[in-house]
Amino acid sequence: MFPHPDFPSGGRRGTGHRLRRILEERAGTWISGREIGERLGTSRAAVWKQVRALRREGFLIEGVRGAGYRLVESPDRLREEEIRSLLPRGNPFAGRIELHEAIDSTNARAAAMAESGAPEGTAVVADTQTAGRGRMGRRWESPAGINLYVSLLLRPPIPPQEAPKLTVVTGVALAEAVEEVAGVAARLKWPNDLYLGERKAAGILAEMSADPDRLRHVVIGVGLNVNSLPAHFPEPIREKATSLRIAGGRTFRRAEVLARFLDRFARGYSAFLAEGFPEALAGWRRRSLLDGRRVLLRHRETELWGTARGVDGEGRLVFLPDGAARPERIVSGEVVAFGG
Ligand code: BTN
Repeated sequence: MFPHPDFPSGGRRGTGHRLRRILEERAGTWISGREIGERLGTSRAAVWKQVRALRREGFLIEGVRGAGYRLVESPDRLREEEIRSLLPRGNPFAGRIELHEAIDSTNARAAAMAESGAPEGTAVVADTQTAGRGRMGRRWESPAGINLYVSLLLRPPIPPQEAPKLTVVTGVALAEAVEEVAGVAARLKWPNDLYLGERKAAGILAEMSADPDRLRHVVIGVGLNVNSLPAHFPEPIREKATSLRIAGGRTFRRAEVLARFLDRFARGYSAFLAEGFPEALAGWRRRSLLDGRRVLLRHRETELWGTARGVDGEGRLVFLPDGAARPERIVSGEVVAFGG
């Protein structure tokens, strides 16, 4: 049923796999290079090479001449079984999690699955993306082993013009999950970013396929920085980006964060379908980052300074351009800068 089994049982298994087993068996204690070499049937030089390879995969291994090697920390692995075990009974994603070690983009994969008839409630998750997509044609940096990249395939019975509300539903679910797991306050920046303090920790990319009057499917992609450190961010965004680890002061198990998000999302989504938008809207307004602030809005190929006046009942940004008498309601755009 799941064509992509839990990694690392896939491609990279060869690299240091047996060495990893030995170190994990006795994690935290010293094992001599000679003993490891004997058990692996290799030279001590070959052991050293494999240790270096494991370190490149994120294992923290101490090595001391005379004492040997000691495993201090293993990378946080995503395993489908663990994610499923953390989901409450009846969660619609529990039976349809497709986990990839590496993929171009989970959004692209979920869209392709949708085109070939996959049902609502499929979640595509990857450890790393080679062509992660951000908004406005940008790239989403997707380093392996530390963050979450997940796309949800939905077929909501709503008209296409209502689809942007799903970004609000998703943002609120993500904020709730982050707050519950990490104990930090999350803020939401219209239309699709999650902030911790004044820095971005997650982005949402919703892509839909629709006829004029009917949604065929929506793919909601979420990229959440879980265990990134500043050095993981490329230079241009280092000053603007954060992660749960940076804000919360410790590392987090990605499976736990993901399961909490899938739980929160399933609840928020069914409330939205059953009762409409008010609940999500209230959750967004409680966390809105921009209300009352000066913002630079990029909209229809122009950039304009003004004041953000919150989000209306349709999820549109209420924006008062500088010098204007009346606010505008912005359906789509981007806030590229904001002041206090
Ligand atoms: C943004 O620009 O802020 C939105 C970023 C969305 C990134 C996520 S990562 C999982 C999913 N797959 C993609 O290719 N993009 C989204």
